[in-house]
Amino acid sequence: MSTPLEILLPLSNSLDAALRPSRWDEYVGQKQVKANVRISIDAAKKRGSMPEHILFYGPPGVGKTTLAHLVAATLEVPLKTTSGVAIERAGDLAAILTNLEPNTVLFIDEIHRLSRKIEELLYPALESGHLDIILGKGPSARTVELALPPFTLVGATTRVAELSGPLRSRFGGGTYQLDFYGDDDLRDIIRRSAKLLELDAPDDVIERIASRSRATPRVANALLKRVRDFSQVHERPLSAELCDEACELFGIDAYGLTKDDRRYLETLLKSFRGGPAGVQALAAALHEDVDTMEHVYEPYLLRLGFIERSPRGRILTQRGRSYLNGEKSDAMF
Ligand SMILES: Nc1ncnc2c1ncn2[C@@H]1O[C@H](COP(=O)(O)OP(=O)(O)O)[C@@H](O)[C@H]1O
Ligand SMILES: [Mg+2]
Repeated sequence: MSTPLEILLPLSNSLDAALRPSRWDEYVGQKQVKANVRISIDAAKKRGSMPEHILFYGPPGVGKTTLAHLVAATLEVPLKTTSGVAIERAGDLAAILTNLEPNTVLFIDEIHRLSRKIEELLYPALESGHLDIILGKGPSARTVELALPPFTLVGATTRVAELSGPLRSRFGGGTYQLDFYGDDDLRDIIRRSAKLLELDAPDDVIERIASRSRATPRVANALLKRVRDFSQVHERPLSAELCDEACELFGIDAYGLTKDDRRYLETLLKSFRGGPAGVQALAAALHEDVDTMEHVYEPYLLRLGFIERSPRGRILTQRGRSYLNGEKSDAMF
């Protein structure tokens, strides 16, 4: 968990499941998204049908998967979870769709990873509930329409721009952006998690963790748990001082930035004189792939106002320079 990438990875994270809200009132913030989604669900329930397909997008760890769970739980229907990476061939998709129990929420995580071919197969399934299966080959090939059990697709993605227009247009139940969380919301999330983990966490501890959580609930929970481990090993109660010591050991600074973020900023300053630096060139200098750079490091640095995206590349802002000089920037906190 020493890099932001690891902190943000959801895979095999049992903590995600343990602390995942199972009721709407436990799902903190994102008021407008919640209100809209609940209207779709309540209306569908009144009609005795399934709601239209829904898409959630936003950075990792902000509650997309949690919402998919809440949608299924509120509808009181089964949830089937898969991911865009797992559906490689037409047969994979056909197997999933034809085996759905009627009235299921089908959650496709990382939906931008579906190939165009699979996307195209999905269109009729989303629009009119059938699959077009091609039987045979060559001149004798024919298409059969296979009726599917009713289902609602909930898609999630960190990269909405990579979805094709036609796929995006099929989310009649709404396309919702989930954004980073403000400090108040983060504090509520950490307070709830501390309670579930049976921790006695004073307000200043909650505040410390909130401000170092990259505005991301998953990071907040992971950091809380790591600070708890630190306090248990040292047999000391949770305190602001202990938080600071723990964070220093983890390499997480007062902004929630790690050595990888600082390396990014320093490279931009030293190798590119603060930019503009082209994405490819910057990624090469960092020995990172463009993907990780754009989707793991940059969103939070942009939010902090430490960097800017320009048509000619990335630019280190004055605030970013002050940060590297060790000056306090009071604009955010
Ligand atoms: N709005 C929220 N309120 C409370 N906890 C949240 C919220 N959003 C996310 N979390 C916590 O963060 C964890 C990661 O959320 P998740 O839904 O898996 O994010 P994503 O799918 O967007 O990567 C969840 O297990 C949950 O504990
Ligand atoms: Mg997820």
